[in-house]
Amino acid sequence: MAQLTSSSRSAADIDADAVVILLAKDGDRAVLTDGHGLSQQAVGHLTSVISELELKGGPGEVTTLAAVPGVTAARVVLAGAGELADGPAAATHEHVRQAVGAATRGLEKKTKVAVVVPNASPDLLAAVAEGAALGAYTPAKAGSTSTPKAQGITVLGPTDGPARKAIKRAAAIGSAVAYARDLVNQPPNLLFPESFVTSLGEHVKGTKVKLKSLDLKQLRAGGYGGIVGVGQGSVNEPRLAVLTYAPARPKAKLAFVGKGITFDSGGLCIKPADGMLTMKSDMAGAAAVAAAVLAIAELGLPVAVTGYLGIAENMPSGTAQRPSDVVTMRGGKTVEILNTDAEGRMVLGDCIALAGEGGPDAIVDIATLTGAQVIALAGTAAVMGRGEQFRARIVAAADVVGEAVWPMPLPSELRPSLDSPNADIAHKGGREGGMLTAGIFLGEFVPEGIDWGHIDIAGPSFNDKSAHGYTPKGGTGFGVRTLVGLAESYL
Ligand code: BES
Ligand code: MN
Ligand code: ZN
Repeated sequence: MAQLTSSSRSAADIDADAVVILLAKDGDRAVLTDGHGLSQQAVGHLTSVISELELKGGPGEVTTLAAVPGVTAARVVLAGAGELADGPAAATHEHVRQAVGAATRGLEKKTKVAVVVPNASPDLLAAVAEGAALGAYTPAKAGSTSTPKAQGITVLGPTDGPARKAIKRAAAIGSAVAYARDLVNQPPNLLFPESFVTSLGEHVKGTKVKLKSLDLKQLRAGGYGGIVGVGQGSVNEPRLAVLTYAPARPKAKLAFVGKGITFDSGGLCIKPADGMLTMKSDMAGAAAVAAAVLAIAELGLPVAVTGYLGIAENMPSGTAQRPSDVVTMRGGKTVEILNTDAEGRMVLGDCIALAGEGGPDAIVDIATLTGAQVIALAGTAAVMGRGEQFRARIVAAADVVGEAVWPMPLPSELRPSLDSPNADIAHKGGREGGMLTAGIFLGEFVPEGIDWGHIDIAGPSFNDKSAHGYTPKGGTGFGVRTLVGLAESYL
């Protein structure tokens, strides 16, 4: 993460290579937002540029100018934020994040950048800092970690206590999301279950997070038939990693569960070549959980969180799991495998059962679980779960942090589609409501009396189109902010 600081200096004389100022959309023209402290001469120049170039101030509009009179920085970047005034606060904050993110994403490497907080608003400072940090991410080349585009980010606005706190939070969120993106972007020959756990070990060093992991022998002995079964076709043995952050006197005890399939070939029910191309990202849920636990610990939130990561590689081979196999899950339930490509729910079932043993207040799992989610909602995540209130709590948390999620039901009339003549339950139903039956299956492993949420991020976790706003190509780090926001909802 680039160094993130705040300053009360003006955009006129701040020592930076580039200064970012937001444009708001006012009807069909752009207006310069305030708070920059520029001279009348500079404002006059920018105003005539806006009119000459017919800037609209809409989302994604980024215009770079050089040698603006009255500005020390070599470049001024004007970034359209859309209509800022109307709509609920959460929506405005997200417009600001996206606009600033689009600006920092467009920077060349090693730029010192300053970003003006519109109207010096204490309320918008956090959004500016977060957008800047999220947009400054550059995907790493295979085998190395990412280096941010901005060498340093200075947020020009309030610098009081709350401002410093918001900057600290944005920096923690920025590095956590960058870590999740890096994990997802790693090619699957480099990121496999063992190396995933090694990376976690490196990242918990010097933090308040403890890491434990179970290897194949321990998974067999512990009765984790779901993870063992999914992993048995691969030469890269599966793991279950547990990340624990346990502050004194926690206000709540949360369990996060992540799907960590480092590569999903489909197994014997093999995917077509095209469907496999992005399947290195099938561990994005586990990445989000790991990054969120690290961020929550770094922020020192008084909420206990344990992350359970079910990590395996789903491969076809002579030892691979077969359709019609029956496996015994953690806790003793037997499951009939109908399609080896429905592997995510198998590793999650084991992890959810283990999470339940810890007696948390709530369990939230997050997973690139179904193609049906992508068809239904594209880049918007689906939230299902038990406890109407709890699902709403997750949706609200996502709204506050600016991640797109939408509630989905778990209709009980779909439960019989999971009946199996050969086991306690089958792991999949028919094609109709495929996202929902996957959720219903997971619910079978949640002990009664514990709130539960299930977030399907198959669509939003990986961007195989072009970059936009603060979202890069490749891994997006989706879910990290919602999980952190959920923990913050207990403060
Ligand atoms: N990892 C996939 C889901 C997925 C698809 C994620 C596209 C991201 C993009 C999952 O393991 C899978 O293959 N699900 C199957 C389940 C089916 C066989 C019941 C699916 O959705 O087709
Ligand atoms: Mn699959
Ligand atoms: Zn999968």
